Amino acid sequence: MLIGIIILECLSAGVRIKLKSRKGPEMLLPITSTINQDGNISIGGCDCVRLKTSYQTPLYIVDITTVKKQCRDYLDCFVFPDFGSEIIYASKAFCTIPMCQLVRSEGLSIDVSTGGELYTVLKSGFEPEKIYFHGNNKSYEEIKFGLDYRVGTFIVDNFEELETIDEIAGQKGLKQNIMLRITPGIKAHTHKYIQTGAQESKFGFGFHSGIAMQAVKKALESDNVILTGLHAHIGSQIFNIEVYDRLIDAMTGFVGQVNANQGVMLKHLNIGGGLGIRYLPDDRPATIGEFAELVHDSLRKNTKKHKVDIEKIYIEPGRSIIGNAGATLYEAGTVKQIPGIKNYISVDGGMSDNIRPVLYQAKYNAYIAGRATNIDKIAGGDAEIGAPAENKYTIVGKHCESGDLIIEDIMLPGVKKGDLILVGATGAYCYSMSSNYNSQPRSAVVAVEDGKSWIWVERQSYEDLVAKDRRLYEGGSVESESLFSHHQYK
Ligand code: LLP
Repeated sequence: MLIGIIILECLSAGVRIKLKSRKGPEMLLPITSTINQDGNISIGGCDCVRLKTSYQTPLYIVDITTVKKQCRDYLDCFVFPDFGSEIIYASKAFCTIPMCQLVRSEGLSIDVSTGGELYTVLKSGFEPEKIYFHGNNKSYEEIKFGLDYRVGTFIVDNFEELETIDEIAGQKGLKQNIMLRITPGIKAHTHKYIQTGAQESKFGFGFHSGIAMQAVKKALESDNVILTGLHAHIGSQIFNIEVYDRLIDAMTGFVGQVNANQGVMLKHLNIGGGLGIRYLPDDRPATIGEFAELVHDSLRKNTKKHKVDIEKIYIEPGRSIIGNAGATLYEAGTVKQIPGIKNYISVDGGMSDNIRPVLYQAKYNAYIAGRATNIDKIAGGDAEIGAPAENKYTIVGKHCESGDLIIEDIMLPGVKKGDLILVGATGAYCYSMSSNYNSQPRSAVVAVEDGKSWIWVERQSYEDLVAKDRRLYEGGSVESESLFSHHQYK
């Protein structure tokens, strides 16, 4: 499985550290995934069958060891002798208080893109100066919230936002650090819904018609903001990392133009997130080490080419921090066979806990968590299952839509009602994009590490679903209150 070992030169505080990085596929399931003596998949030393007994399904499982490894890989590999760096976790991938606390304890900064994410991150105890506030339509209240709590940097998306920040910061007697979000006109090869760098994008200031230059000029003229640098994010789930070389070329080229035009050298460059991850055994994303090497080479080359002086580079990974650290455990219910046409496995969740297959045609891999006996280490995702995988199934959810699909056409051994199905790589953009469609309570999130498991987010109850509902008319009574005691249906 391993193609080979390459030595990556990561540089730490001027000292050369030889970092071994696997050339070849990254993990698909969490790195602690094994098959135990009972033939069950275990993650973080916790048997999935026991997790089901303790916490029920559907269940999001987060492997702390994998999250820590990803954070440390970023921090180790993005250390350069000639450029400073900062790793900012993109909280939108999975924004819960314990996750924010984990990335904080690993030494990352964090970004938010709404008041709600900002609230969660502040609640987690994150230092405000390590928070980067994004968003293409921040409301007045959200901007004020950020300024009230002194977030470190606003990533300014448009002229109105710039004016509002300047105005409120002025009232407070603050000088607020900002970066400008630039749309560099670069299309990443990824699903069109998650491309963000193209000229027609809704985000940021484009080079087209000199708008980005006007934004720089306006920011420099605003009394109550300090323009520290530029930001760009071109998309997500990117496999062809060479596109970052084009991005750095475009951005440093613009920094050169700003210097020529405004006489100011902008020294901080944020190139967003976007590194792809492994969802299927055949996926071959770049490693974090390869990504860092490319960014470093490109910075060296392009700062010379455009005669600019970049002091610090910022990276904003979301998916590549949490994606493979997470997996979702379901219980198989109805198994429907349409002879010669299709075999369906219906699981007890679906598009409410993972909208990605429906929204982006995202592909996933699945395993039978309680019947996998052949090999002991399956983090690479190639679990050989005890019985031959000779049946083609489509795994669907329990929602009232034909499009409610998790995996189309996967080969598995015969599946029966009650089997536990583990879907890999669901750590990013699944819980954070989950919904209560069909009044399905949100699933619990459980963390695992060193043989221990504990709740990160509790499963919603039926009561939670109606907690914000009010009466038909003010003062009327809720008829159903007398019909049953809802406490017994948790
Ligand atoms: N920075 C900015 C400004 C972003 O908008 C994003 C993601 C990131 C960083 C992190 O990108 P990542 O490293 O996670 O690729 N819901 C979609 C993904 C949307 C990404 C939005 N922005 C999905 O499920 O694939």
